[in-house]
Amino acid sequence: HNPPLVCVVPGDDAAPEVVRPTVEILRELAPEIRFAEAPCGREAQAQYGTPFPDVTREAIDAADCTLFGASGGPSRPILWYLRWNKETYINVRPVRWIPGYRSPMQHPERIDYVIARDNLEGMYPPREGDVAELAALPSSGSWWMAPPVEKAGAYSIKVSTDEQMQRVANHACDLALQRQSAGYPGRVTLGAKYSIQPRTDGRFRAIVKEAVSQHPSLTYQEFLVDDMARRLVASPENLDVVVLGNEHGDILADVSSGTIGGLGLSPSACYGENYAYFEPVHGSAPDLAGQGVINPTAMLLSGALMLDYLGYNKQASALTSAIEQTYREGTLLPVDQGGQAGTHEFVQAIRAHLPEHGS
Ligand code: NAD
Ligand code: IPM
Ligand code: MN
Repeated sequence: HNPPLVCVVPGDDAAPEVVRPTVEILRELAPEIRFAEAPCGREAQAQYGTPFPDVTREAIDAADCTLFGASGGPSRPILWYLRWNKETYINVRPVRWIPGYRSPMQHPERIDYVIARDNLEGMYPPREGDVAELAALPSSGSWWMAPPVEKAGAYSIKVSTDEQMQRVANHACDLALQRQSAGYPGRVTLGAKYSIQPRTDGRFRAIVKEAVSQHPSLTYQEFLVDDMARRLVASPENLDVVVLGNEHGDILADVSSGTIGGLGLSPSACYGENYAYFEPVHGSAPDLAGQGVINPTAMLLSGALMLDYLGYNKQASALTSAIEQTYREGTLLPVDQGGQAGTHEFVQAIRAHLPEHGS
């Protein structure tokens, strides 16, 4: 069989500082996997005159999947390519507290669920225009809802297609079934603004509800997304698979991350029919760039999700356990978790817990 090929896009600002050590660890765990780093952002701009050169697009296309750092602006077109051109329709963001994570919650041990976020539609990609253009739209019939077309201003569009909502719903159900076979309750919880957006979020609600009803072992729950935000903090123990639209999922993933101890800890995986890419929930952390203190945990856990995707499940578990053991011991912790370890030192601590090193 052909060993997998992974395209590595380090991203901007502090992102390469977590991507490169992650690739080193993945290489140690699965020497068979081939990694090809592709130029991006400012370096690509300097060398190729564009932040997203053809060689990078070709490297992404040639690979089985991509490991992506984060874009602080310059690498943004690459992120867009990974989402829309590769049609990675769902963004899966596991939220799980591990002993040793510095959570602000009183009972963080109750936090263990997965966010399933639409990765393609809603208010993304940005489609904006002048309010005057709204005059062409059919009137809602209510004066307070009529577009203020005589005024100067802008609008932003939200789009949800049945096809996309359906595959997000189906994927969420598959996730819940998968988790159920591992002992989770099999509960799908939708958070959306169906109260005020009947045609987008209302339709999403109907589609998710119907999809869940196709699986007798699963239960369906729904909350208006503002209330959902509170529940992530007040009663996370009731959550299993949380389905959210694109912008809601973006915001609430960072809230969830806050409940377990911060952005340094939250991984993500984006899956399409024919492609996948893996990136942390966090951004390029420009405030940390060059300091050698950024927490590599989110990136490493994204790497573990990638190992699972590629069929290296044993190696994925080994990496996850090494991270868990390092936090559990707590003798060495990253700066954002109240410790003093720099990125390199913390990666070394994790490495010491990998099976090859006999611990
Ligand atoms: P950010 O996630 O980069 O940082 C927010 C805060 O969290 C900062 O204080 C940062 O230092 C901290 N933080 C983030 N990751 C950390 C880590 N691994 N370890 C320790 N601390 C960490 O968000 P931001 O500052 O709002 O955005 C910076 C840039 O990143 C923006 O250009 C934004 O658009 C972009 N961004 C990109 C992605 C992506 O590519 N998927 C995701 C989010 C934000
Ligand atoms: C994320 C990020 C992106 C998003 C940005 C960089 C466009 O915040 O992946 O969570 O909004 O989806
Ligand atoms: Mn985000």
